[in-house]
Amino acid sequence: MPRLLIVHHTPSPGMQAMFEKVVAGATTDEIEGVEVVRRPALSATATDVLEADGYLLGTPANLGYISGALKHFFDTIYYPCLDSTGGRPYGCYVHGNEGVEGALRAIRSITTGLSWRPVAEPVTVLGQPDKDALEACWELGATVAAGLMP
Ligand SMILES: Cc1cc2nc3c(=O)[nH]c(=O)nc-3n(C[C@H](O)[C@H](O)[C@H](O)COP(=O)(O)O)c2cc1C
Repeated sequence: MPRLLIVHHTPSPGMQAMFEKVVAGATTDEIEGVEVVRRPALSATATDVLEADGYLLGTPANLGYISGALKHFFDTIYYPCLDSTGGRPYGCYVHGNEGVEGALRAIRSITTGLSWRPVAEPVTVLGQPDKDALEACWELGATVAAGLMP
């Protein structure tokens, strides 16, 4: 069964709400035949990445970059996964309170290096996630998962 791996760093209630909506979208009844695996960024492994068929990445913007946790994830999996995950689809969501451009740039740069393929617009949220922001998270999860349906 195709597998979607959600790798996330979730340090606050607002980001937890976003994560839950992404999971809800990815696991909605209309998505059939896709296994959804969630891993906090600090515990995700290269094996998790190799065994998945697509990816969703969630992070806060921290100090103008992705969180240290997601950076650690990429530091850990980059070379082990470089040879055999190219072309796989991914999407991402980023939360911040001031500006998320640096974090987005980092995700684009790292995933370009891995040759992962963006299949949805990044969801970016500033401040407390409102109804529209949470809906966008649901759509993101559903879009990336639907693309993996057999
Ligand atoms: C050390 C630190 C650095 C941060 N740097 C940024 C930043 O560069 N840009 C930004 O938009 N938010 C920044 N933030 C805010 C975080 O993105 C925010 O705390 C996180 O998304 C969770 O948001 P919430 O607590 O409002 O739910 C920073 C937070 C911390 C603790």
